[in-house]
Amino acid sequence: MSKTALVTGATGLLGRQVVRAFERNKWNVKGTGYSRADGISVLKVDLVKAEDVTAALDNVKPQVVVHCAANRFPDKCDNDPEGTRALNVEATKRLASLCAAHGILLIYISTDYVFPGKPGDAPYEADATPSPTNLYGQTKLDGEKVVIEEYERAGKSGLGVVLRVPVLYGDAEVPSESAVNILLDTVWKAQEQDAKIKMDHWAWRYPTNVSYQTEDVGRVCHDISVKYRGSNDPSKLAHILQFSSEDKLTKYEMCKLFGEIMGLSIAAIEPNTEGNDPNASVQRPYDCHLSTKALKNLGIDVSTQDFTGWWRWNVRAFRK
Ligand SMILES: NC(=O)c1ccc[n+]([C@@H]2O[C@H](COP(=O)([O-])OP(=O)(O)OC[C@H]3O[C@@H](n4cnc5c(N)ncnc54)[C@H](OP(=O)(O)O)[C@@H]3O)[C@@H](O)[C@H]2O)c1
Repeated sequence: MSKTALVTGATGLLGRQVVRAFERNKWNVKGTGYSRADGISVLKVDLVKAEDVTAALDNVKPQVVVHCAANRFPDKCDNDPEGTRALNVEATKRLASLCAAHGILLIYISTDYVFPGKPGDAPYEADATPSPTNLYGQTKLDGEKVVIEEYERAGKSGLGVVLRVPVLYGDAEVPSESAVNILLDTVWKAQEQDAKIKMDHWAWRYPTNVSYQTEDVGRVCHDISVKYRGSNDPSKLAHILQFSSEDKLTKYEMCKLFGEIMGLSIAAIEPNTEGNDPNASVQRPYDCHLSTKALKNLGIDVSTQDFTGWWRWNVRAFRK
């Protein structure tokens, strides 16, 4: 069987590692990006432009597309609702329609933010009722729906798969690429004289590693591809999957851990247990823990990197 994969968002935090995970498993892989694409190692494809998408699929002829590209910063989504819908929903619908027509397996990366995360609700099974608390989550949920619908419409149900993941961390070009990596900078800032930083100690997060090795999101995308491409009837397999670590931490606890690992004081960081400001435009969920049962039922390994262990190994390079 020919093994060619196309990864959108390959200049981003997750897509970069998904490319490496497929390469590691000896697939031909082409990544696409937009503003950061060099046009050589990574194709420049504006997913909002139909002609760009058609050309990329014709050129690469993949059997699998992993769709990572999105506007995924909740605040940026709120500031540009139209642009966000165009990328997160309309471009996803077009991509799904083209992939379905060609019988290409599409793995659409979604988020735990499709769930309301009300106290007492979690963990969420893959078939639990979503109800996003902000526009980012809503556009990602709408993206999920158009993927499933387009594959149903084409009679290719089961080749359009949703994979939800929680907050991601790992090898980043710059710490600001990840809501977790950036906390390392916060801990350094807390060392400055007169520093006083408030840090959320209310919402539970389950930081999950993006790296391409054995226990991470990239590897799971590869394993899903093998499973669904190898199935005689993928319509019988689950259409929505979820992957998550079990490392339950608030952002304040992550800072505390980074302080311990790097031997730095976090006395200047104050835990904030207030939760959402009801007047803020972006409301964040309290606990969206994702159950990984649907992946386990497929026989796909759901083990994850140990958060503390990975950071211990990683920050040695940054320790002064
Ligand atoms: N990061 C997280 O914590 C997290 C958590 C849950 C779910 N997710 C989901 O995981 C996926 C990957 O997230 P990420 O953190 O890797 O995102 P990211 O680092 O922000 O990367 C976004 C990617 O989208 C590309 N892109 C933006 N506009 C585009 C356009 N018009 N046409 C084509 N490509 C475009 C970007 O390309 P350029 O940079 O080259 O412009 C970049 O490669 C997203 O679907 C996100 O919703 C992420």
